[in-house]
Amino acid sequence: MANVDLVVRNAAELLPFAGGAGPLIGDALRGVEIVRDGALIAADGVIEWVGATGDLSAALAGRDAAHEVDASGAVVMPGFVDCHTHIPFSKGREVEFEMRIQGKSYLEIAAAGGGILNSVSHFRETPNKRLLELSRHYLKEMLRSGSTTIECKTGYGLALEHELRALEVIGTLAGEGPCAIVPTFLGAHMIPAEYRDDPDAYVEVIIEEMIPAVVRQGIARYCDVFIEEGALSVDQARRVLTAAKNAGLELKLHVDEFNPLGGSALAAELGAVSADHLDAVTGREATLLASAGVIGVLMPGVNYFLGNNAYAPARRLVEASVPIALATDFNPGSCMCHSMEMILSLACTQLRLLPIEALAAATRNAAYACGVGERAGRLQVGYDADVLVMDGSSHQSIPYHFGTSHVREVIKSGVSRYRD
Ligand code: NIG
Ligand code: FE
Repeated sequence: MANVDLVVRNAAELLPFAGGAGPLIGDALRGVEIVRDGALIAADGVIEWVGATGDLSAALAGRDAAHEVDASGAVVMPGFVDCHTHIPFSKGREVEFEMRIQGKSYLEIAAAGGGILNSVSHFRETPNKRLLELSRHYLKEMLRSGSTTIECKTGYGLALEHELRALEVIGTLAGEGPCAIVPTFLGAHMIPAEYRDDPDAYVEVIIEEMIPAVVRQGIARYCDVFIEEGALSVDQARRVLTAAKNAGLELKLHVDEFNPLGGSALAAELGAVSADHLDAVTGREATLLASAGVIGVLMPGVNYFLGNNAYAPARRLVEASVPIALATDFNPGSCMCHSMEMILSLACTQLRLLPIEALAAATRNAAYACGVGERAGRLQVGYDADVLVMDGSSHQSIPYHFGTSHVREVIKSGVSRYRD
């Protein structure tokens, strides 16, 4: 019999997040099975067996493993799925960080021509070669932090040439691995400066020129929009997303980050895969999201970084049966943080999710939020063998001891990619 890629044994706790279809909703988020003294086998890049270490020898049936992991004193869990990031971007925005510390808000800085438009100027003058160098650096750091699947958005080009260039960069990164990359077109991130006096003309450019070209290029899976005062209105977003859907793209939305403008209702109406941020979501719209099965992607790193304390009402969303996921929103303006472990800590202390709920939201549910829920985010037979070995005697110890990395080893598709 052929040998196997990987054997993991002796895990203090193994978190499979397995069983059933779809994301975990409501009480199911905390009702997941935990395997004590856990073990697993992976072959051909996928999980072949999960169980207790005592049953491992029988499952192995004499086969050898290319790589063996003794997970004593560790928690074994699926790789994090960071289902919302703004890679690729160019320079940082440290000046705005200081402005906020001194009292200016994110929206005030954006209204004065800073914010996203600042990053657009940087992006347009940065060649692909440099964008690739920067992105590879970030992806490497993210892999070391345990993220094995990462959604990447455009949105700092805001002109046909530059948006396609951003997608090319994302496509190249996807081809290089080892992280799995999910590409999203966010040409509707903001109205660029050259259309300030006629925003609808830019919306027409997105619909008539960009979406057809993006579909011809064939890299993007999702179309995203940013609905906010100073960005796109609900009506403009509806036009963009309807065109994108008709062209075969799936939908994601940035909604209710600062003001509740009706973006969540639009996400439900159009059958979007996810509605992201939700800090200011209303109870009525939470019900609409739940009925439509739209995943609410919560990103508490943004509130922390902006210092606004307006965290999403996560407990109410869970009670309303909105499937929730967690992501970093890694970007230079509203969350310069690529660590899902940091997000777990914030999810527990600020969103009041239990550690097990936060872990499920950052793995299984996050995988559904970026369309890979049938192959990633679980330790289940047939799923990609994306496995984290995290120092700690229990899953609670991961968010409990914050500001440090618990990552001992990161395995992507059965192959060890990082070892502390
Ligand atoms: O998700 N809100 C819109 N987009 C990003 C911020 C991007 C930026 O400030 O550069 C977000 O928060
Ligand atoms: Fe974002």
